[in-house]
Amino acid sequence: MSSFTVAPLEISSVLHGGYHHPVARRYQNNGRNLTKGMFMYPIFISDDPDAEEIVATLPGQKRWGINKLEGFIAPLVQKGLKSVILFGVPMKMEKDARGSPADDPQTPVILALQLLSKKFPQLFLACDVCLCEYTDHGHCGIMSELPNPLHSNMPTLDAEKSAPRIAEVALAYARAGAHCVAPSDMMDGRIRSIKLALMENGYGNRVTLMSYAAKFASGLYGPFRDAAGSAPMYGNRKCYQLPPNARGLARRAIKRDAAEGADILMVKPTLPYLDIVSDCATLEPDHPCAVYQVSGEYAMIVAGAEKGIYDLKQMAFETCEGFVRAGASIILSYFTPQFLDWLDEER
Ligand code: PBG
Ligand code: ZN
Repeated sequence: MSSFTVAPLEISSVLHGGYHHPVARRYQNNGRNLTKGMFMYPIFISDDPDAEEIVATLPGQKRWGINKLEGFIAPLVQKGLKSVILFGVPMKMEKDARGSPADDPQTPVILALQLLSKKFPQLFLACDVCLCEYTDHGHCGIMSELPNPLHSNMPTLDAEKSAPRIAEVALAYARAGAHCVAPSDMMDGRIRSIKLALMENGYGNRVTLMSYAAKFASGLYGPFRDAAGSAPMYGNRKCYQLPPNARGLARRAIKRDAAEGADILMVKPTLPYLDIVSDCATLEPDHPCAVYQVSGEYAMIVAGAEKGIYDLKQMAFETCEGFVRAGASIILSYFTPQFLDWLDEER
């Protein structure tokens, strides 16, 4: 016998009725559905034309040679792939201080743009724009000649030299057929430089500028740096990528890049930064908000599933649904090929 009486449930307390049926559960998404069209697939392009190389730390992803690209992409386009973002991996080209191979006419990204725009005219072709894969020092811009008073082996970057150099690379990709250029270098002033370079050369009204606006100095980029061969030779990226504790700085970077002419604003990584995603969507509600589920986030989810901690598909959905809930409308993810299947299945 209980010693108290239980009052009947108030009408306003009864929620279960609204999500008992699987179809009803989907109605609870506040109008924001995960769709195939949201996904942008990151692809690594090697300068070895016949490459199809496994990357140990990035399970399921490969470095692709130009000759293998059509066979790899065609079935994905068939399944509804709408967009890719290309990363060049120069394994043999000679690197230097200004990242010359980035816009060499034979660089893998330019060859891939020419090929993909011919073979898949409907596919949206975005290109990462950065120097770190192409510089001998492995940093994302041009180094300053002034010594760094804190770290003798960690010079700072020269924003005034870096921004125009990065704009030059972006313009070369636009000329080669990129529909979207996406600078990930985090140099001050590069969005403005790129926008002006595009406008002055007739691409201002036909090329989308997607800024990696709030990109944090993260421990989650390791597998990417293996895949792209872009780890810095010395020092780290903390003087240009944002400190993980810096919400205000991230908000300033988002507002700055919107004002400098970005068409899309990105937050990266995603899972530890959902407050920033929400900030991005509310600070700049008239810009699409993109998120990058980076290499380490992807590898972490795959590794946990392999250990039997959770189901892979369930975790991939849960993370990406969280991104959309926070305000993202574009998701860069290595899970893209799997989502093209999963989104057709009954859930
Ligand atoms: C390079 C770049 C990085 C990523 C995208 N562009 C790595 C870095 O900044 O060190 C990370 C992507 C990923 O981890 O999947 N500018
Ligand atoms: Zn870089």
